[in-house]
Amino acid sequence: MKKNLVKYLLVLFTIIIISTFQNCDDSITSSDIANLVMPDSNVSYSIHIAPVFEVMCVGCHNSQTSEGGVDLSSWANATRDPSVIFPGSDSTSILVWTIERLPPYPPMPPFERLKQNHIDGIRIWIREGAKNN
Ligand code: HEC
Repeated sequence: MKKNLVKYLLVLFTIIIISTFQNCDDSITSSDIANLVMPDSNVSYSIHIAPVFEVMCVGCHNSQTSEGGVDLSSWANATRDPSVIFPGSDSTSILVWTIERLPPYPPMPPFERLKQNHIDGIRIWIREGAKNN
């Protein structure tokens, strides 16, 4: 009887430890941006833009792997090159062109087009000055 109780407690303890560690994992996943709706104005880098970049772009655009010389892992890196993101002018920003372009040019991300609302939000954020807000 006692042995079973010890086993039971061990299993319970293990489950608690595992679930605690799972809760600690705060990395952003695609489910986090599935319901993300960008507003028509006052688009925020930290609330709206960074999660989309994180899930959809940073795998190929970070400080180690910066495909096309583009690093989107932080606001400072993303806004470093004004030809990629030109604060105040979405239509002259290469980034906007790449997320909207159609085959035969590879769109960004290459395998899954961003939602139109997210494309619009990125445009508005750039038009509003691409601020670190
Ligand atoms: C699977 C890898 C991958 C993902 C994910 C990805 N890219 Fe790229 N990206 C590339 C490669 C490879 C290039 C260089 C070749 C090219 O320009 O097509 C590139 C180039 C670029 C360029 C430079 C284009 C130019 O002509 O100078 C921009 C801007 C860009 N990506 C933005 C994005 C954005 C924004 C996202 C997310 C919405 C994204 N990428 C997601 C692989 C990726």
